[in-house]
Amino acid sequence: MKKGKTRGKKRGLFITFEGTEGAGKSTLIREVGQRLHQGRYPFSVTREPGGSSLAERIRTLILENQMDPLAELFLYEAARAEHLSKTVLPALSRGEIVLCDRFTDSSLAYQGYARGIPWKTVKAANSLATGGLSPDLTVLLDIPPAAGLKRAEEPNRFEAEGVDFQVKVRKGFLKARAEKPSRWLKLDARSKTPDELAEVVLHHLLKRFKLKEARRG
Ligand code: TYD
Repeated sequence: MKKGKTRGKKRGLFITFEGTEGAGKSTLIREVGQRLHQGRYPFSVTREPGGSSLAERIRTLILENQMDPLAELFLYEAARAEHLSKTVLPALSRGEIVLCDRFTDSSLAYQGYARGIPWKTVKAANSLATGGLSPDLTVLLDIPPAAGLKRAEEPNRFEAEGVDFQVKVRKGFLKARAEKPSRWLKLDARSKTPDELAEVVLHHLLKRFKLKEARRG
């Protein structure tokens, strides 16, 4: 977690997971969580939109209604501000590794690149909602959008927009990654089993953040 001016002291690790629909983020997060549990690392799992009681209510509002793109962006950001202050920041200050299913890069990819709100505007909105907090690491689970959509079970209203929309979303993630590649770990969702992908993420975490020495026990 990069510290924002108005947000508390850095202690834990903030790891976000991004990807287009059907990439397998939820399974990957569950598998990584199981491994952290086995290694007795303190961790928690959360998601956006959602992750706190009010933010979950905003999630329902967003997912069940068609709306103006800017209204949609603000609702994601409102949910985010609430999620950060009620869930993420307290967990980080307890020293946990927070595994978060989607975060600010989803706003850039979906509301920015795919819906067409200027990139700069989405960045500004993200930074207002987060106070400048940025993930320590973002795992991009990359999959060709057509393959991902085949895997998606119950399409939400974004999945229902079809493959062209997902192609834009994917390009949005790649653009966000190109701005700061060092924050990202990009994995090909189809090259390995969920088990193998989780091992890659775990080993990356242990090595990159020297978790063995600093946090085990
Ligand atoms: P969800 O069913 O959780 O999708 P997934 O399992 O793929 O994460 O629905 C969340 C939807 O919200 C998903 O389609 C992506 C979208 N989203 C945005 O458009 N902007 C955002 O900032 C976030 C966090 C999510």
